[in-house]
Amino acid sequence: MKHNLEKPAGRLGVLLPGLGAVATTFIAGVLAVRNGISQPYGSLTQMGTIRLGKRTEHRLPEIKDFIPLSDLSSLVFGGWDIFDDNVYDAAVKAGVLEGQLLYDLKDELSSITPMPAVFDKDYVRRLDGPNVKTGRNKMELAEALIGDIEAFKADNDCSRLVMIWCGSTETFIEVTDVHQTVESFERGLIDNHSSIPPSMIYAYAAIRMGIPYANGAPNLSADIPALVELAKKTGTPIAGKDFKTGQTLMKTIIAPGLKARSLGVHGWFSTNILGNRDGEVLDDPGSFKTKEESKLSVLETILEPDLHSHLYDDLYHKIRINYYPPRGDNKESWDNIDIFGWLGYKMQIKINFLCRDSVLAAPIVLDLALLLDQAKRSEMSGIQEWLSFYFKSPQAGEGLRPQHDLFRQLMKLENTLRYMQGEDLITHLGLDYYDEAAGS
Ligand SMILES: NC(=O)c1ccc[n+]([C@@H]2O[C@H](COP(=O)([O-])OP(=O)(O)OC[C@H]3O[C@@H](n4cnc5c(N)ncnc54)[C@H](O)[C@@H]3O)[C@@H](O)[C@H]2O)c1
Repeated sequence: MKHNLEKPAGRLGVLLPGLGAVATTFIAGVLAVRNGISQPYGSLTQMGTIRLGKRTEHRLPEIKDFIPLSDLSSLVFGGWDIFDDNVYDAAVKAGVLEGQLLYDLKDELSSITPMPAVFDKDYVRRLDGPNVKTGRNKMELAEALIGDIEAFKADNDCSRLVMIWCGSTETFIEVTDVHQTVESFERGLIDNHSSIPPSMIYAYAAIRMGIPYANGAPNLSADIPALVELAKKTGTPIAGKDFKTGQTLMKTIIAPGLKARSLGVHGWFSTNILGNRDGEVLDDPGSFKTKEESKLSVLETILEPDLHSHLYDDLYHKIRINYYPPRGDNKESWDNIDIFGWLGYKMQIKINFLCRDSVLAAPIVLDLALLLDQAKRSEMSGIQEWLSFYFKSPQAGEGLRPQHDLFRQLMKLENTLRYMQGEDLITHLGLDYYDEAAGS
């Protein structure tokens, strides 16, 4: 790993398969910040600070001053979608941001048009669109993506690229033999293997080219041994899966607190209504199963019922997602948590979160683009577990239990940044403050 890097020169191309609600909200948001219309609220890299050294040193720089990240002014955007709307039209249709804001950015947004997508309706049953590539097999489609990426890089004069999957949630697929090695995977691409969905083809193209790849959806994509192996071979950092927004963000904030105080949980019922295209896609049982798996694992890994059987053994965890068009992107979620405390007395917690999904997801896309680029420049490759902070279902090395607790994830992320810049890691032990005071 390389430490203490210089600020990068040149432009960073951010490639987005899927130019829907999240991707267009991200692009419009960065342009709005660049044009002085707003602030990058929700982005740790742009607004967060980091403590360095001892508390008595009072060193608390902003993360963006401490780590030599790309400036927002150096970002250029590209992407693919099955619909041929430019980013302005797609953002208007997504209905997340208000019309006047989008109108003020119209020229810049309209200039970004989607490249034809690698798509197969078998993997996203509720969608169909005209802007799609054809090829004799999946390897040919991967080569076509590589051609797109090379052309984008040259046309936009980029020195570096990152790719972040913002496409729809694909149907549930389990890891099988074809996913085990680079060789079996490449053979599967040539043989049009049915366990290779489009998101894996994008991930393969990016990773083969050494382009950092993150997966914002719950489908497997790069979370298979073959692509982890390829990422190590090509020196590519990868991260996933499924942006941590909305209800799961709340879960990973509250559950660690309950566990920390040894409060028991009998049940956690979570339901959602949402009316955007993501909601429509998740109305299909195959796509819902992929999402459900991603959301379910959270509580079990935080509460660890195997280690704390008295508290969490009979935990009943239920998740519902209901497609309800009138609500658009303004999702509403309810959580009912049945907890118990001293002498087994029962209590309840109710959470009603009226969130805006894509508004929560957009700054995650920004942070991932900048941090993955930083990881690449620091010569880090393979799974970047320190980026678990951003994901519902963090990708972790084989045999490792993923870390879901938001606060532990943040500690890990901050320590990784300190490590990158050659600063002391912070353990929060703090005894030395008192030893010194006592003169020992
Ligand atoms: N909105 C959130 O807060 C949030 C949180 C976590 C995860 N996600 C995930 O992020 C993804 C995007 O969410 P969204 O709200 O923007 O959904 P969206 O439906 O608005 O956008 C997805 C876009 O991807 C396109 N697409 C689908 N398959 C494609 C392919 N193979 N190639 C290129 N384009 C393709 C669709 O046409 C659509 O425009 C979804 O998978 C969603 O589950 C979203």
